[in-house]
Amino acid sequence: MKKRLLTGDRPTGPLHLGHYVGSLRQRATFQKQYESFIMIADGQALTDNFDNPQKITTHVLEVIKDYISVGIDPEYATIFIQSQVPEIAELTLYYMNLVSVSRLERNPTIKAEIHQKGMGETLPSGFLCYPINQAADISIFQAEVVPVGDDQIPMIEQTNEIVRKFNRIYDTQCLKECQATLSPCSRLIGIDGGAKASKSLGNAIFLSDSSEVIKQKVFQMYTDPDHLRVSDPGKVEGNIVFTYLDVFFDNKEELEELKAHYRRGGLGDMTLKKLLLKILEDLLAPMRERRAALSDKRLWDILQQHTAHARSVAAATMREVREAIGLNYFSS
Ligand code: TRP
Repeated sequence: MKKRLLTGDRPTGPLHLGHYVGSLRQRATFQKQYESFIMIADGQALTDNFDNPQKITTHVLEVIKDYISVGIDPEYATIFIQSQVPEIAELTLYYMNLVSVSRLERNPTIKAEIHQKGMGETLPSGFLCYPINQAADISIFQAEVVPVGDDQIPMIEQTNEIVRKFNRIYDTQCLKECQATLSPCSRLIGIDGGAKASKSLGNAIFLSDSSEVIKQKVFQMYTDPDHLRVSDPGKVEGNIVFTYLDVFFDNKEELEELKAHYRRGGLGDMTLKKLLLKILEDLLAPMRERRAALSDKRLWDILQQHTAHARSVAAATMREVREAIGLNYFSS
C-alpha cells in the first residue's frame, strides 16, 4: 500500500514562485509515489481573516487553478476543501485538551506570525490554536509524508507530539506520526531582496502573473548597487538576479561562467535580467496555458467529488478516534 501524503495551502491569495520551489513542484513529482491529499485550508485561513471571509472563499478556485497549472493532476491527487470535512473540526476539539496554552505560545511559527501581524490583546484563540487544527488535518488522513516549506517544521513537531500523546492516553495505535519532506529549495527571497517572497509583502512573482507583469518585476530587481557600468566588476553575493538564477537556471556550468564574467566586469545587468526573464517565462508560460484551459464548472466538480472522497477517509479515522476515547455510544 502506498503511504499517504498530505499538504495544503491557505487560500488567501494566488500562489507564487516561493510556493512553487518550496512545495508545489515537489508535490507534482510525489503524486504517483504516494496517495496524495492536497488541502485548500480555508478554515485555517479564516483564523486571521474571519472578518473578511470573501477574501478566502474567492481564492479557493484560484488555488486549485494554481495546483493544476503546476502539474498536480486530479487523476492522482485528491484536492479538497478543509471546511467541508467537519470531521477535522471534531478531531481538533479533542486535540485541544492535549495541548497547553503555553506550548502553543512557544510555537516559533505562530510566534513570528503573531508578531508580524501585530496581534496583541486581539489575538484570536482560533489563531493561536491553528497548529492543533493543522495536526488534525494531517493525522485524520493518517498521512506520513508532509511536503512543506521549512517554516512549517514546528507544525509537524507539534503534530507528532499530539499523536503520541493521544495514542498513549487513549491506549490506541489509531494515529500515525508524520514526517516533513523539505524541498531542496524551501525558501525563495523576495524580488526586493526581502528574506522571503510573500503576497503580504508584495514582493512575489505569482504563478498567474502575465508576461508583462513578470517583465516589470524582473526589471525592478536590485543587482549590485556599485555595478554602474557594464565594464565594472560586479558582486554576485546578495545580487537578487543571481539568487533567482541559482534557483531557476538549470545549466549550472553556464551559470558559473556568468558569475565569473560578472565578477570580472563586462557583463551587463540587462543581459542577466533578460536571461532570467526568459527562464521564468519558459517555466510560467505552460502554466498560464494550462490555467486558461480550465473551466470553473469542472473545477467545482472536481472539488466536490474529491472533498467527498477525503471526507470518507477522515470519517474512517474518526470512528477509531471516537472508539478509543469511548464516545461510540450508539455504535457498539
Ligand atoms: N499552514 C500551512 C500554510 O500556511 C497550510 C496548511 C494547513 C498545511 N494545513 C496543513 C500544510 C497541513 C501542510 C499540512 O501554508
